[in-house]
Amino acid sequence: DPDCAVVKASTDRGFHWANVTLSQYTALRGSFPLGVIEDEPTYRYRGVLFDCSRHFFDVEDVKKVIDAASLFKINRFHWHLTDDQGWRIESAVFPKLTEIGSRRKGSHFGRHHSYNEYGGFYTRDDIRSVVEYASERGMDVVPEIEMPGHASSILAVYPEFSCSGAPVEVRTRPGVFEDVLCPGKDSVLDFVDKLLEEIVPLFSGEYFHIGGDESPSTHWKTCPDCRRRIADLGLGGLAGLREWFSDRVAKKLISLGKKPIVWNDVLSDEALLNAGTVVQYWFGDKALARAHSSRGGSVILSEVPYCYTDYSYAQSPLKKFYSYDPEAFGLPFPALGIESTIWSSYVSDIDRVGFMLFPRAAATAEIAWNGSVSRETFGAFTDAFERLLPMFGAIGLKPASISRVDPSGLMRGADFARFWAENATPAALRSDIGSVLSRLGEKKG
Ligand code: ACM
Ligand code: ZN
Repeated sequence: DPDCAVVKASTDRGFHWANVTLSQYTALRGSFPLGVIEDEPTYRYRGVLFDCSRHFFDVEDVKKVIDAASLFKINRFHWHLTDDQGWRIESAVFPKLTEIGSRRKGSHFGRHHSYNEYGGFYTRDDIRSVVEYASERGMDVVPEIEMPGHASSILAVYPEFSCSGAPVEVRTRPGVFEDVLCPGKDSVLDFVDKLLEEIVPLFSGEYFHIGGDESPSTHWKTCPDCRRRIADLGLGGLAGLREWFSDRVAKKLISLGKKPIVWNDVLSDEALLNAGTVVQYWFGDKALARAHSSRGGSVILSEVPYCYTDYSYAQSPLKKFYSYDPEAFGLPFPALGIESTIWSSYVSDIDRVGFMLFPRAAATAEIAWNGSVSRETFGAFTDAFERLLPMFGAIGLKPASISRVDPSGLMRGADFARFWAENATPAALRSDIGSVLSRLGEKKG
């Protein structure tokens, strides 16, 4: 109609996304043509992960990421709230988690070194405010509380929750650490239950993430409590113990009314994970993820080369993100969704977040909405993205310029070299290579 647009939708969120389409159209064309737009998403779960543990971002910055994600109809804000380098969510039941776990003595990430104390956490009011803000923009917050690995910030408070009980500090460097929660101890299971009972009601969305990636079983091997647990439950070994632990926590979440999500590292040949738990795949054994899908389990895809925006544009150019075909993964049933990520070991301010995340997260969002997109539309996509830049200006987030996001030839070499010179130290590389080797060894063993 020349004077108005009529919007019809089957859900409240549908109305919201229709309005986003109208505002995009205004930004792109200045006006609407007369006509009908019929539209629906390919994937139900369209996510973006923001790591606020390795570096802390205040609520205003978090809301900027939510604002920008919402421009592209991303409907899940995966908030990585806990890790080895900091516990970022207030607990009234376990106040020491933030008193001690949210602070570290310094920061040594790549070639960036600081000997100043670093800390920060979100109060319960902060959390409620972000949940409400996201909800008004069509998004659910998916909190992530990491366990049993990436848990140094818990062990810094409660060393008795590891196998050995040895003291642990909140980490000042990136990496994969061998001190993890001990699944053999009932006190650990009680702690996790009480923590989830408290934290879960702060979040209104249907999903809740409990991590599970990069959790070495080095100390489990010789721990009498872990050995006893394996024997009592008739588990096949250490990988089964890990899968049992995550499955137990997942079932607790289900009893609290949430759909649990775990990283694919949790899966083992023992197939213990209940089919109601969603697996998020990033790296590793694809066959195990396909097997979870064939048992009726849902899978979210975040394959590193196509979805991780913490790598340089030389390694992971925009075109590569845009060329991602989730169906090539070969799941027997369609994926629940796809999600891009921004991990913050090498990203410490919101300008850098804007630069690394966008436009790549917009490409992932485009695929999440339309399914894999044709290479021929790439030019139209970048043109459209550039015309949305005033909306980014209003949000206060700066994406990378389109001239930077697909470096070729010499530029690519220079970008690659600069990224590694800034970020990679021999120790970090050793830790990365070590973690890959330890997984391979575990698989063989
Ligand atoms: C991950 O990137 N470790 C899930
Ligand atoms: Zn143990």
